Order: sequence, then C-alpha cells, then structure tokens
Amino acid sequence: MTNSQAIADENFFNELRAKEYETLDAQQQTYLDYTGGNLYARSQVLQHQDLLLHNIFGNPHSTNPTSQKSTDWVEATRSKILTYFNASDYICVFTQNASGALKIIGESYPFNEKSTLLLLSDNHNSVNGIREYCNSKKGHTLYAPLNYEDLQINEEALKNLMENKAGENNNLFAFPAQSNVSGVKHDLKWIDYAQQKGFDVLLDAAAFVPTSRLDLSAHHPDFVAVSFYKIFGYPTGVGCLLIKKSTFPKLTKPWFAGGTVTLVSVVSQQRFLSAGHERFEDGTLNYNNIPAVKIGLEYIESIGIDRIAARVKSLLQYLATELKQLHHDNGHHIVKIFGPDNFDHRGGNLIMNFFDVNDKVYPFEQMEDLASAQSISIRSGCFCNPGIDEINNCITNEEISKYFMSRDKGDYHDMITFLGKMRGATRVSVGIATTRRDLDKFIELAHSLKNRSL
Ligand SMILES: Cc1ncc(COP(=O)(O)O)c(C=O)c1O
Repeated sequence: MTNSQAIADENFFNELRAKEYETLDAQQQTYLDYTGGNLYARSQVLQHQDLLLHNIFGNPHSTNPTSQKSTDWVEATRSKILTYFNASDYICVFTQNASGALKIIGESYPFNEKSTLLLLSDNHNSVNGIREYCNSKKGHTLYAPLNYEDLQINEEALKNLMENKAGENNNLFAFPAQSNVSGVKHDLKWIDYAQQKGFDVLLDAAAFVPTSRLDLSAHHPDFVAVSFYKIFGYPTGVGCLLIKKSTFPKLTKPWFAGGTVTLVSVVSQQRFLSAGHERFEDGTLNYNNIPAVKIGLEYIESIGIDRIAARVKSLLQYLATELKQLHHDNGHHIVKIFGPDNFDHRGGNLIMNFFDVNDKVYPFEQMEDLASAQSISIRSGCFCNPGIDEINNCITNEEISKYFMSRDKGDYHDMITFLGKMRGATRVSVGIATTRRDLDKFIELAHSLKNRSL
C-alpha cells in the first residue's frame, strides 16, 4: 500500500466511525471486543427499521400475502449469503448462531464405532462439544496439537493423525479458520488435504469471516458454521450452516419438527423429510430479523471485506508494535503477546498477558477490571477455547486428570486454585469501527503498569 493510499484509508475509516458508530464517542466507550461481537452501523438499523415499518411480515409457512412477503425476504437473504461466500455448490440452512450450526452436524453426522472425529486443540467449545455425539456412538475423538511457540498447527502431528488414526469410515475433521483466542488464521489447505485422506471437513468460520474473505469456490469444506452478529453486529440470533450439496445426503436428521417434513402420519408413524435446507430448519425461522442479514452483508460489501482485512491488519500491527516496546525500568517486558510474529497469519484478535516489575503475571480478571474502570471493553479468561489455554499455560494431561478425578463439579477458578497455576489471558480484538485513538487508550493502560508490583 502506498503512503497516500494508507492516508486515504485512515481517513475513510475515521469518517465511517464518526458517521456510523457515533455512539462510541458520544458515550466515551472504547470497544475492543469485536471477536466477541461486532458493532452495528447506524445505517443498518435504520434500513431494517424502515423495512419493518413499511411492510407486513407473516409466518412464512404459508402462501398468504404477508407470509409470501416473509418468504421472499428470507429467500433473498439466503441467496445473498450464498453469493457473498461464492457458494453455489452449497445449501444454506438458517440457524440461531454458529453453535446451532455446529450442533446440527453433531446430531446428524453419521458417526459410528469406526469413525474418527479429529479436532484441533484450538477449537471453540461449540466444536469440542461435537465429541459427545461421536463418543456416544463409540467413535474415537482425537486432538491435533498446536506448536507452543507460534500457536499454529503442528503439521507433522496433524499429517500423522490423518495418516494413521483415521477410522474406516465417516471421519470428520473440524477446525477453526481463525482462532477466536490467538487470532491465528489456520491454513485452509488442510481442507483439501483432509478430504484426500478420507475426512469430511467442518470449517468453523465464526471468528474468520468478520475480517477475511471466505471464497467457497476456492475452498470446499463439507460444512461451514457462521454467526452473523460477528460480521456486522446486527441482528443477533441468526447464523447459518453451509452444507456442500454433494455431502448433504450423508447427514441423518435425528428427529423432525414443524417445517422440516413434507408429510407425517400419526396412525402409521411414518414421515417424509423435506429435501433441502428446510430439513434442518426446525420450526419458525427468525423471519423478522433475517432480512437484516441481507442489509448487513450489503453494508460490508459497500466497504469491501478486503479493505476491512487490510485495515484490521494495520491496526493490529500498530498495537502489537507499541505494546512490545513497553518495558519496566529494569528492562523487563510489561506485555507478552502470544502467537506468530507474521501478521499475514493473524486475524482481528490478539491475546496477551501482563507482567509486574518482578515478572509476576497479572490475573486476567484484574486486567479486565482495570480496563473496565476506563470504559475499555476487552475480554479475558479462556474464551470457551480450553485447548489453547492449556497449551499457553503448559498445563499437562496429568494435572487436569487429577483435578477432574478429585471432584464431581468444578470451574475455572477452582481449577486455578487447585493447580496453583495461572490460567487465562487478555484478548483485544479490533474491527471496522476501531481507530488508532482506541488503541492508544489501551496502550496507555498497559503503560500505566510500568514499575508497578502486584
Ligand atoms: C471460533 C468460534 N466458533 C464458534 C463460536 C460460537 O459462536 P456463537 O456463540 O455465536 O454460537 C464462537 C464464538 O465466539 C467462535 O469465536
């Protein structure tokens, strides 16, 4: 990018912030939790409000005019999603969120005693939870490790697992396109590689698509999970599962509900399931909010996802560079950032820990409290991704097993006390509305720890 392009982009995003996200400055809030949930633009809400105020939307399971109006908008939105992801070979199923999409795969994937479910140690719990379905069918769940140094996939280990541990049939490999914790973008080459080794592939794209282009004509995972509020903030409560048309027949729906069948008999207990996306859309869709997804995607297109990606990369590089320069007077670092140094392999979020002058790590809750006191919204803890936290904090299988054996209920804080080891970290994530001023506020907060002791 040339210097004048960089200035033009800086001006463009600063103006966008002032026009579409004015509440942030009006309320003096510094929002740095975009991976938790994106912010909505003023124009998105006004456009949706206008649509609702000038139309009558009825329950779409009918042919009357108000029902038809809802159906038209739902189908136009579905078609927009498929176009947005370049996904003409896919079926789009509306869900409540990414977790809802992942649960459909858990329930419907034909696991059996010869199956392997291969997960990455960097999966969100909504993917980890699929192992309950696999294990209940007596299949085997395995985890592929990450490298401790850069939190990227350990390629050797993953290849070995795919080569030697695949079951005889119905094997599923599930991984995140981007870690919701470290921000590492995992290489999408693994989709094709896993498929060649006999795995179907579930791509968790929830943390990836807000700041990266996902082109499903270039990569062909069998299943993709997405939450729309993570891309453009509004509406909440709508996500989707994209299913490759050729893999669709493999999924077995374990029950039926209103809207998912073409015919049901009570006398003979027979039923015919609907053929396409309807099969997995239980009950009434969120038809008043689904049109706001179309509006949201058009909003993102009006800016350009590649432009957003470049902006986010430049913001994160700035943040990381500034934080890495912070030292106590004894020369020790105040902040340690986890993950790769190369920002081509990162999305919109960073995790880090903070150290006092004696190299003692600040408990993550304390960092969140310090930030909250200055109206800075960040996230801390393990972010529903325990695998990466166990790697970062060098927690062993033996230690964890000991803890689980010692109790029949527990939680994160109890485990920290039991192990006598710190867990968790602080996550900062940036997005469309972030300005350098937001980042400076956070850098100032980190700087305020200089020479302090816990
Ligand atoms: C990578 C990833 N997968 C899945 C989810 C679950 O998304 P949701 O809570 O919208 O269902 C999240 C949420 O943070 C996520 O970051």
